[in-house]
Amino acid sequence: MLSQEDNELLTKVGSGTPMGELLRRFWTPAFLSEELPTPDCDPVSLRLLGEDLVGFRDSDGNIGVLEAYCAHRRVHLYYGRNEECGLRCVYHGWKYDVNGNCVDMPSEPDQTNFKNKVKLTSYPTVERGGVIYIYMGPAELKPEPPELEWSYLPEVQRTATKRLQQNNWAQAVEGGIDSSHISFLHNRTIGQSVNKDSPIPRNKYHGQDRHPVFEIEEVDYGLRIAARRNAEPGKHYWRITQFLFPYYTMIPPVGNFETSKGQPYAGHAWVPIDDENTWTWSFGANPTRAYTEEEREFAGGKNGMWGPIDEKYHPLQNRSNNYLIDREVQRTQSFTGINGIPNQDAAVQESMGPIVDRSKERLGTSDTAIIVFRKSMIRLAKDLAEGKEPIAASDGDLYNVRSVSILLDEGVAFADGAEHLFPGGDIRSAAE
Ligand code: FES
Ligand SMILES: [Fe+2]
Repeated sequence: MLSQEDNELLTKVGSGTPMGELLRRFWTPAFLSEELPTPDCDPVSLRLLGEDLVGFRDSDGNIGVLEAYCAHRRVHLYYGRNEECGLRCVYHGWKYDVNGNCVDMPSEPDQTNFKNKVKLTSYPTVERGGVIYIYMGPAELKPEPPELEWSYLPEVQRTATKRLQQNNWAQAVEGGIDSSHISFLHNRTIGQSVNKDSPIPRNKYHGQDRHPVFEIEEVDYGLRIAARRNAEPGKHYWRITQFLFPYYTMIPPVGNFETSKGQPYAGHAWVPIDDENTWTWSFGANPTRAYTEEEREFAGGKNGMWGPIDEKYHPLQNRSNNYLIDREVQRTQSFTGINGIPNQDAAVQESMGPIVDRSKERLGTSDTAIIVFRKSMIRLAKDLAEGKEPIAASDGDLYNVRSVSILLDEGVAFADGAEHLFPGGDIRSAAE
């Protein structure tokens, strides 16, 4: 549980709040490249960290992300005309370039230099791995972007998509690092006892050992969250999720990098839209080969494993239709009766309310990762409020890691047994 005060500190993301300031020190995933596909394409509105924004790609292909409201009389620039290297407000024609400078003011006489005094807030952008990131922090502290593997792999070896989630970002992260819920929420084998006979070792181990032992290692970029389950006699199955500040996770692959070459892995970012809404980003990376078309549709398509979603990336199964829960399926086949892992996650997380009241929780040993996550984020936010900058924000190379699943002999610590799979800051050589 958390005090009301710490719960506020963890969850509030607006400008000037301790967590809001911390989150602004990191590059923030803002758009998929497909949302701004070509020069002079339609502008797109966006809300991030409680700020209303508009994004556009100008005639030269440069991306602008500006505060959404025209400096003149505050019309939303989503309705603007994207033309001749600028976004023009449709009310009186004021026009802005990608840096927010007002470059034309046709409603004022030619001889005034009023337009030179008008500027909108604009945020620096970087486009990597099919994602447009923005930096919303102090200009003089702008860091290198994070070297996540799915950012720099060739296009054929990566995927990215996103979907709306209607609850606070921290609640969503807590679902992402909660390895114990997999044996329950995502179980699809009701009526077959537990899935301990599954031919897929992961499912078998999840089925036969439903209370994993957690070991958490705090590292510069975040947390290594190891969940240990009993496997064959004399063996432990380790599932090591990476949590990377401030909201990324890397999900362990289904197999084992050593034994199942060609195995992709997935990751998420839970990016706050505001205090009560979140973009759930999903990434995929296959370090060893290109995705097939089928795999790509499954991992990144609107009807794939993170869907189905509409053209605005809103899930079709949502709170308004109870996620299409099927009680008969729930009785006979799956734990939830809800189809699709992300819908199952959204159902439970949104059901807590937009910001869960953490003062009323009863946490157990399986919640260790969640407790450490909260402590780390609150510590970083308090440190920053006292002038101590977060190390991870300024060192993009720290993000060059992977998640791991591995079978180890009993008695071998994961930090030793899986050490060669955490090549300490440079996995590019390991991928070759
Ligand atoms: S409100 Fe935008 S030009 Fe007047
Ligand atoms: Fe889940």
